[in-house]
Amino acid sequence: MKVLVTGGLGYIGSHTVVELQLAGYDVVIIDNLSNSTTKVLEGITKITGVTPEFQELDLRCKDKVQYFFEQHQGLDGVVHFAASKAVGESVENPLFYYENNVATLIYVLQELQKLKQQNFIFSSSCTVYGEADKHPIDENSAIKPAQSPYGNTKQIGEEILKDSCKINSNLKTIALRYFNPIGAHDSSNIGELPIGIPQNLVPYITQTAIGQREQLSVFGDDYPTEDGTCVRDYIHVVDVAKAHVVALERLINNEQDSNFDVFNIGTGKGSSVLEVIYSFERVSGQKLNYKIAHRRKGDVVAAFADTSKANSKLGWKAKYTLDDAMSDAWKWEQKLRTK
Ligand code: NAD
Ligand code: WQD
Repeated sequence: MKVLVTGGLGYIGSHTVVELQLAGYDVVIIDNLSNSTTKVLEGITKITGVTPEFQELDLRCKDKVQYFFEQHQGLDGVVHFAASKAVGESVENPLFYYENNVATLIYVLQELQKLKQQNFIFSSSCTVYGEADKHPIDENSAIKPAQSPYGNTKQIGEEILKDSCKINSNLKTIALRYFNPIGAHDSSNIGELPIGIPQNLVPYITQTAIGQREQLSVFGDDYPTEDGTCVRDYIHVVDVAKAHVVALERLINNEQDSNFDVFNIGTGKGSSVLEVIYSFERVSGQKLNYKIAHRRKGDVVAAFADTSKANSKLGWKAKYTLDDAMSDAWKWEQKLRTK
């Protein structure tokens, strides 16, 4: 079985390529290296012993996408990660985000629909729920107006899939709404490679601890949560990766209830910013330099998942703890800096 992974050299994509290979799939990766490097291929090979086929290709080039699919008619599925993901940048440059996240999705789907097997997994996000009315958040929770062009691209992406599935019963799609993926492969051969100053909590913590950043700012301690800091559902990236394998198998085996479906991918457990810091301190054995700062604009108070749908229908459940993920994130950071 052969699977295309777009954005397969990126953070979640590379971990998914590993899990797909370990499950016996042949993988072909498309990536334009805008947020990754070919070094990731070496990391994947070290873990699985197999170098996946790699095509350096920008999905914004419709002709090249068309040509790629003409050359790969026998694909059994597509896992589509390729997109840009910086919320702030999307506010500064919305047209780039709509082109890179929405136009590319359309080009891929247009070509996929010419194939015999039209199995498609889409990277969606808990961002579609915005500030949810109740927790844990299940898949029937309201989709809230997006707070950024980035968030909008995920909502639009889901709508595009839903509408395409309505008129094409051969197309089978699953949107996975990830909560907060963190950590790295426990071999430390692959992990997250944030370019510039990290916007996300965990790479900011590990970069502070390694001396790359001076101090972590905790954005607000006056939220209506137990310790006043925001709550999120942090999930080990390998657990996220494994969810793609089972979702793809559900499509390939024709087990889905409808040809468009969505699943929350989280642990089901909320952790506050301070709890993440304490977890880091526990697993690393060192104190983190942090201060309490103002709230960050646009942050929701809390977001954690009801994962019962994924548990029952996909037979998938996150197995790693927050401490496991923080420990792997820290090992990866140390390896990056000693290279
Ligand atoms: P990433 O930036 O590490 O990976 C994305 C990969 O896609 C990169 O390797 C990049 O070079 C590639 N890419 C981008 N534009 C491309 C294009 N036009 N053509 C070909 N390749 C292109 O990001 P990630 O964290 O692995 O996220 C993967 C997906 O999951 C994205 O769609 C993202 O929006 C979504 N997502 C991520 C998170 C998160 O917290 N990391 C949460 C929810 C959803
Ligand atoms: C987590 C918590 C911050 C940095 C983002 C995207 C979302 C989705 C997941 C893709 C928050 C706090 C952070 C720092 C801090 N991605 N924090 N100091 O905001 O939940 O979601 O990733 O779809 O779209 O917006 O993740 O890691 O940025 O923040 O205190 O230096 O850590 O305020 O409470 P977030 P995050």
